[in-house]
Amino acid sequence: MKRLLEKLYNQNTLTKEELVYLLQHLDEESMKELFSYSRKLREEKYGKKVYLRGLVEFSNICKQDCLYCGIRKSNKEVERYRLTEDEIIQCCELGYDLGYRTFVLQSGEDSWYTKDKLVNIVKKIKSQFPDVAVTLSLGERDYDTYKELFDAGADRYLLRHETASKRLYEKLHPTMKFENRIKCLAELKEIGYQVGAGFMVGLPDQTVEDLAEDLLFLNHLQPHMIGIGPFIPHHQTPLKNERKGELKDTLIMVALARLLVPDSLIPATTALGSLDYRGREAALEVGANVVMPNLSPMEVRAKYQLYDNKICLGDESASCRWCIENRIKSTGYEVDLSKGDCIRIGENQ
Ligand code: SAM
Ligand code: FES
Repeated sequence: MKRLLEKLYNQNTLTKEELVYLLQHLDEESMKELFSYSRKLREEKYGKKVYLRGLVEFSNICKQDCLYCGIRKSNKEVERYRLTEDEIIQCCELGYDLGYRTFVLQSGEDSWYTKDKLVNIVKKIKSQFPDVAVTLSLGERDYDTYKELFDAGADRYLLRHETASKRLYEKLHPTMKFENRIKCLAELKEIGYQVGAGFMVGLPDQTVEDLAEDLLFLNHLQPHMIGIGPFIPHHQTPLKNERKGELKDTLIMVALARLLVPDSLIPATTALGSLDYRGREAALEVGANVVMPNLSPMEVRAKYQLYDNKICLGDESASCRWCIENRIKSTGYEVDLSKGDCIRIGENQ
């Protein structure tokens, strides 16, 4: 185990067999050692900085039917909404005043927002706030749409691979193809986006081998950003009676992701904060270096529920901003309000 942890820290890679062995044999002591390596590497790369991103959840309408997701097409109980271009800009104005210099625009897969509508939104944000980064998280689109949005000024794109196991992927995504997910990620990278991949921990039927594949996938893709969160059941989905992912398992994955992609930006996810009161702080302590507080209008917060017991549904954007700052300070880390690009940018991408 010692040798594997040293190899991870020094060479930032492991084979699948080594990853499986590590996941099967981590005891309390070796877990502490893993966390101290991941924390050390994070501080070597990013110091004590934690970057903030303002998250705007602009539509909960989705044509896909992912079994785990609360806003899946088949959930007829959700009250659906779309924000107008003006409403999205208003969120950014508020966010800018609160100090955010990255806006993450996220939605279900909603074709009502055509390429042209999205290009306009991105252009408007970039012209009104020239010093911000725009991150998109809209799901799968075609190459031309990705390219035009990039040319319009979008900087980053989050598209979690969700699970690197084709078997599990296709079971969980009846309307989607694993190959297309991977193709989208490759296209986004080729176009020049800073790309985010990532996965859920504790999915039904997910094995240790599947998790090792997720980690290897990240190690090969070397994304700029990595979103890892626990699976949390939503009561109006087919997975409502399944067990949720565990805090400890998710933290282990965050630490391993840091060691396998050392210069990545890794958010302490809202799902972790929803699973455990101090889940986000715990992630920051083992290698995460980003937090994405909510900037969506209060009226729509409760309608964007991907899983049960999501935090911040009743908190004003300003409260989240200060809440998160206090939480970050409580870990001994410091808030950084700059755009916060991946440190690889400007090197060889
Ligand atoms: N539609 C876009 C996409 O597919 O990338 C972005 C929005 S999607 C709702 C955002 C992320 O929420 C997904 O990538 C997934 O990992 C996560 N998510 C959805 N349902 C979840 C659940 N029940 N538990 C934890 N995370 C969930
Ligand atoms: Fe929203 Fe803490 S981040 S209340």
